[in-house]
Amino acid sequence: MSILKRSHGCGELTKEHVDQEVTLMGWVDTRRDLGGLVFIELRDRSGLLQVVFSPELDTEIHELSSKLRSEFVISVTGKVSIRPEESINKNTSSGSIELYATHLSILNTAKTPPFEIKDEVNVEEALRLKYRYLDLRRPVMQKRMRTRHKVTQLVRNYMDQHDFYEIETPMLTKRTPEGARDYLVPSRVHPGEFYALPQSPQIFKQILMVAGYEKYFQVARCFRDEDLRADRQPEFTQIDIEMSFIQQEDILNLVEDMVIKIIKEFKGVDLHQPIPRLTYEEAMDMYGSDKPDTRFDMKFIDLTDMMASSGFNGFADIAKSGGKVKAIKLDKMSDMSRNELDMLRDKAVKIGAKGLTWFIYNQDGTLKSPIAKFFTETELSEIKSISKAENGDVLLVVGDDYDTVANVLGRFRSEFGKKLNLIDPKKLSLLWVIDFPLFEYDSQNKRWAAKHHPFTSPKPEHLGYLDTDPGKCKANAYDLVLNGYELGGGSIRIHKKDVQKKMFEVLGLTDEEAKQKFGFLMDAFEFGAPPHGGLALGLDRIVMLLTDCDNIRDVIAFPKTQNATCLMTNAPSNVEPQLMRELSIRSTVIKEKDKE
Ligand code: AMO
Repeated sequence: MSILKRSHGCGELTKEHVDQEVTLMGWVDTRRDLGGLVFIELRDRSGLLQVVFSPELDTEIHELSSKLRSEFVISVTGKVSIRPEESINKNTSSGSIELYATHLSILNTAKTPPFEIKDEVNVEEALRLKYRYLDLRRPVMQKRMRTRHKVTQLVRNYMDQHDFYEIETPMLTKRTPEGARDYLVPSRVHPGEFYALPQSPQIFKQILMVAGYEKYFQVARCFRDEDLRADRQPEFTQIDIEMSFIQQEDILNLVEDMVIKIIKEFKGVDLHQPIPRLTYEEAMDMYGSDKPDTRFDMKFIDLTDMMASSGFNGFADIAKSGGKVKAIKLDKMSDMSRNELDMLRDKAVKIGAKGLTWFIYNQDGTLKSPIAKFFTETELSEIKSISKAENGDVLLVVGDDYDTVANVLGRFRSEFGKKLNLIDPKKLSLLWVIDFPLFEYDSQNKRWAAKHHPFTSPKPEHLGYLDTDPGKCKANAYDLVLNGYELGGGSIRIHKKDVQKKMFEVLGLTDEEAKQKFGFLMDAFEFGAPPHGGLALGLDRIVMLLTDCDNIRDVIAFPKTQNATCLMTNAPSNVEPQLMRELSIRSTVIKEKDKE
């Protein structure tokens, strides 16, 4: 078997190569035997090309071509020719040419794949993940991996042009608090002790600021043992950034400029600086979410004030006791059935609300509502005018505590946005959510927890609240949101030891615990820590949105399943008892066979 040198990729050839002799290597995509002539589509990373084996050109090669099957790996040499008019394929760049083979080598055979290697495959994802190398061979997956590579490359160039150093931080490290469980790695040389895989490079990047590096970035692998969703993996990649001697404004400017460039490059959409900003409070008030999808409007309508003095005691009591009564308006939905509305109410109750009610403004001007009878005519027209409802519209109304109202109406807003086709799929709606609270109350454990992470600084004017009222303390923290997804988040950090110490106190860490967990950071703060801040963007999420995928697994070469397994390698798996002994660990799980 002679292997010639590959001269081109299949997708690189155009009419300009006609009459040239070329050598291609790749996989047999499809094969058709039309009696005399054998046609194959040859596939490689660059695309597809039709290759023709004619008995008139070379009988031996023509005979060998009859052995070809899908996914065989071959090398072919031949002359590029123009295809006859009737067989031109206008869908591919090389669809107007073909190769007449004068040489063929079968470099490897292949079993019949469990699914076809083409863009649209109708198979269980589990099968795709088990045979990921075949799945990744599909052109659509190769395109996604290429986009991922190009985005990463753009980021590296951008950061380099802006004078950032790419610095790697350790994978075997101490626990980092980002709110998830850690993946632990036992130490052999220190029996009974464990490294943690980083949930993010957070502490190291801050220490790099203390070390005087001023502008750091990293394409960083992070590990979090948390409940998985379509936009979450246990192992994922961040574009991690940190800068010294800056204000929040500097980071927001830098990051939005870079993300706008990425969107222009990969989506051809022009977005302009500055992108919109909402405070956390505004986002929650208007959309019930700190990552609102602002591609469509449907803002919450606040009826609290008018309800407080209304004749409907149910809502008046809620309004007077600090709760909220809010609505969303569904345009032109007055023909909703009672059954549909009842189902919405059941759903609201399941989410945690005490109930849900509605006002239906019929086309003929009449009003239908289970609570209409409690209001005067003036109050009813006030509700209609506050909500700018027109005949044909429906108001869904919830009265409850602030969080429950936000949660229920936030979910219904998302659902109806999709259901009523209010979302233009081509639109990209980028915004900052700023001024997050520094803490959130963990009612289960009856203590304050960091909303972002414990290194985020309070707004200087709110420092006093650390002692008096932590719940009122706002942070210099910000999230970047695209189409309802959190793309990234960051903050200006605490850089003074006393403030960091106070922060740990509010979070309920004793001095001893703080020292044990973060003593090295506190020590570093005593040696000239500059003011600093940063942010991390989820690379996987960015690529997912750029490639119009709705699952992060489709843009990760070797992802884990929903329950954190790898179906190709079968990880996680048992290890030999000998290895466990060397690591001084013993499993408490009793396997079925051991029980017998
Ligand atoms: P945060 O925890 O907000 O911040 O993470 C930053 C971004 O990383 C992405 N992300 C994930 N992507 C996929 N799977 C996951 N499990 C996952 N978790 C997070 C999101 C998110 O916005 N150290 C801070 C950043 C900082 O303060 O500079 C941090 O990690 O897109």
